[in-house]
Amino acid sequence: MDILVINGPNLNMLGKRDPKHYGTETLDDVNEYIKKSFPEINFTFFQSNHEGAIIDMLHAANGKYDGIVMNAGAYTHYSYAIADAIDCIDVPVAEVHLSNIHEREDFRKVSVISAVCIGQIAGLGKNSYIEGVKLIIERVTENDK
Ligand code: DQA
Repeated sequence: MDILVINGPNLNMLGKRDPKHYGTETLDDVNEYIKKSFPEINFTFFQSNHEGAIIDMLHAANGKYDGIVMNAGAYTHYSYAIADAIDCIDVPVAEVHLSNIHEREDFRKVSVISAVCIGQIAGLGKNSYIEGVKLIIERVTENDK
């Protein structure tokens, strides 16, 4: 199974961001943890601070990956362009967040991408990615039945 993990803006700064919300590990640490947790899965990791680059990556994912686990960072809250990109591909996308966006500032409580994702996992730290991968596996194996 091939899964693409996309991280949006400022997630390359993990380890330097507020540890209260984002922990102390770097993005490389998180990616290693994901890989080690699912040795049978072939992961591709992509991070960008640019909306268009994320959209290009989503378009290119069609037919290439079985699923996408995405932390869109702050784009989660206002990027209709990323929502439209998810909507126009055939690959299932699981939305994940390290922090619990529902118990933070009001603007973070809104996700404009959740309606086009297969589920949202927030507040479990790096384990949000693990649950996101499980969601994809469930969806893919369900469709294989
Ligand atoms: C985040 C939450 C967003 O509100 C924030 O802008 C991020 C990270 C999270 O993982 O908790 O950059 O998506």
